[in-house]
Amino acid sequence: MNVYDAERMTDLLAPIGYEAVEAPDDADLVILNTCHIREKAAEKVYSDLGRLRQLKAARPEDGASMVLAVAGCVAQAEGEEILRRAPYVDMVFGPQAYHRLPEMVARVHREQGAVLDTEFPASSKFDYLPKPEAQGRFSAFLTVQEGCDKFCTFCVVPYTRGAETSRPVADVKADASNLAAGGVREITLLGQNVNAYHGRAGRFGTQTLGKLIAGLADIEGLDRIRYTTSYPAEIDSDLINAHRDIPQLMPYLHLPVQSGSDRILHAMNRRHGAGDYKRLVERLRRARPDLALSSDFIVGFPGESDADFQATLDLVDEVGFVGAYSFKYSPRPGTPAAALLGQVPEDVKTERLHVLQAKLNAGQSAFNKGTIGTKMSVLLEGPGRHPGQMIGRSPYMQAVHVQASEEYLGKIVELEIEAAHPNSLSGRLLEGTPDHQGLNATMEATA
Ligand code: 5AD
Ligand code: SF4
Repeated sequence: MNVYDAERMTDLLAPIGYEAVEAPDDADLVILNTCHIREKAAEKVYSDLGRLRQLKAARPEDGASMVLAVAGCVAQAEGEEILRRAPYVDMVFGPQAYHRLPEMVARVHREQGAVLDTEFPASSKFDYLPKPEAQGRFSAFLTVQEGCDKFCTFCVVPYTRGAETSRPVADVKADASNLAAGGVREITLLGQNVNAYHGRAGRFGTQTLGKLIAGLADIEGLDRIRYTTSYPAEIDSDLINAHRDIPQLMPYLHLPVQSGSDRILHAMNRRHGAGDYKRLVERLRRARPDLALSSDFIVGFPGESDADFQATLDLVDEVGFVGAYSFKYSPRPGTPAAALLGQVPEDVKTERLHVLQAKLNAGQSAFNKGTIGTKMSVLLEGPGRHPGQMIGRSPYMQAVHVQASEEYLGKIVELEIEAAHPNSLSGRLLEGTPDHQGLNATMEATA
C-alpha cells in the first residue's frame, strides 16, 4: 500500500510542477513514505533522515533548497517526536493527510516553520485524489479499503491507519475501468483488511468484496484480479464463491495465519484458531482446487513455548504454502502485547525464525519445481535482463523469463515452464499463443 500511496502523492504533485527523480541528491522535495509495522522499519527512518539532512544542508550553496517530508505510519505514530528528533524536517503527515500535500507544500514555502498533519479527516481522502492512470503499466494496484478494526495485540495498524473504511463501489469501478482503458490487464485490490470491504453500492446498500470482484470481472480488458491482504475470520461465502466462479480471480491467495498455536492466536486476539484456518483453506480449495496460498508468520510472540512453535511448523506442513513472509515478534510501543510478561529472548526468536524459514523456503522451492513441464499463462510486463528476453508473472506471482519479442509486451501468453531458479521460473513460448486466450490458458494450466 505504501507503493500505491507514493504513486498517488506523485500524481498529486504533478499539477504543481513536481516530477519524480531517480535520486534525492538534486531533489527540491524529498518525501520519506514510512512503515511503522516493526521496530526495524521505524528506526530506519531516523538513519535515512540523518543522511538526507546532509544533502539538504548542502543545498543553499547552489541556491536551491530542499523540502524534507516524513509521510506514512511513522509520521502518524510519532508526529511531533520526529520534529523534536529531526528539527530540519519541514513536513510530517500521516496516511490520511496526503491529499493535502499541495497545500502543505505551499504552506512550507510561504511560512517559516514545519507543518504537522496527523488528523484523521471526516471526509475521505479518496474524494480529493486524481484518478489513477495506467502510465504504461500492465499491472496496477488499486486501494479499495483502508484501516483495521481487528486490534491484533501485536499490531500498530489500527492506530496508524485508523478505522476500517471502504471506497464506494462506483468509485472503484470507475478507477478500474480507467486503468483498463489505459492498458492495465491486472489489478490488485488493496486494503489493510481488504476482505472487510463493504463499499456503498447506491440504493442497494453495501457490497462485499466477492460481489465487487464479480462486477470488476465484467470490465473489458481486465483479465486478472487479485486482492490483498485478507483476515481469515472475515472470508465469507461471497468471496469463496468468487474463487469458484470468476476465472479472472487468480488462484493465489495471501492469507496471514501468524501462528499455528491456538493459545498464541488467542493471545494475539486473532479470532481464528488453527482448526478454523485449516477448515477455511479446505473450503477455498474445494471452490478452486488449484488455489495456492501464501501467509504471514510471527515467531517469538510473548509466551510462545517450544510446543506452540511446533504447532506453527505442523500447520505449515498440513496446509502447504507456496510463499510466506515471516518475522520475529517486534514489540511496538502502545500495543497490548508489548506489555505482556514472557517476552521471548532474541536468540530464541532468531533460531525459530531460521527453522520456520527453512521449512517455508523448501515448500516454495518444491512448488516452483513442480511447475516444470506444465503450461502457464504469463502476463508479460517488461524486458528481461538479457537481450530478446521478456519477464512476466504467472498466476501464482512467480516471475517468469521467456525469449519473446517486444510485440508480446502487455500480453498474456501461454508458456511451457522449463526451469525453476531460486527466485524465478523460465519458460518457452508455445506456438499460437494469441492474446485473450490467456484466461483459458490459466484454467487449463491449473486444471
Ligand atoms: N512484530 C512482528 N511482525 C509483525 N507484523 C505486524 N506487527 C508485527 C510485530 N509487532 C507482521 C504480521 C503482519 C505483517 C504485515 O507484519 O505478520 O501480517
Ligand atoms: Fe494488524 Fe492485520 Fe491484525 Fe489488522 S488484522 S490488527 S492489520 S495484523
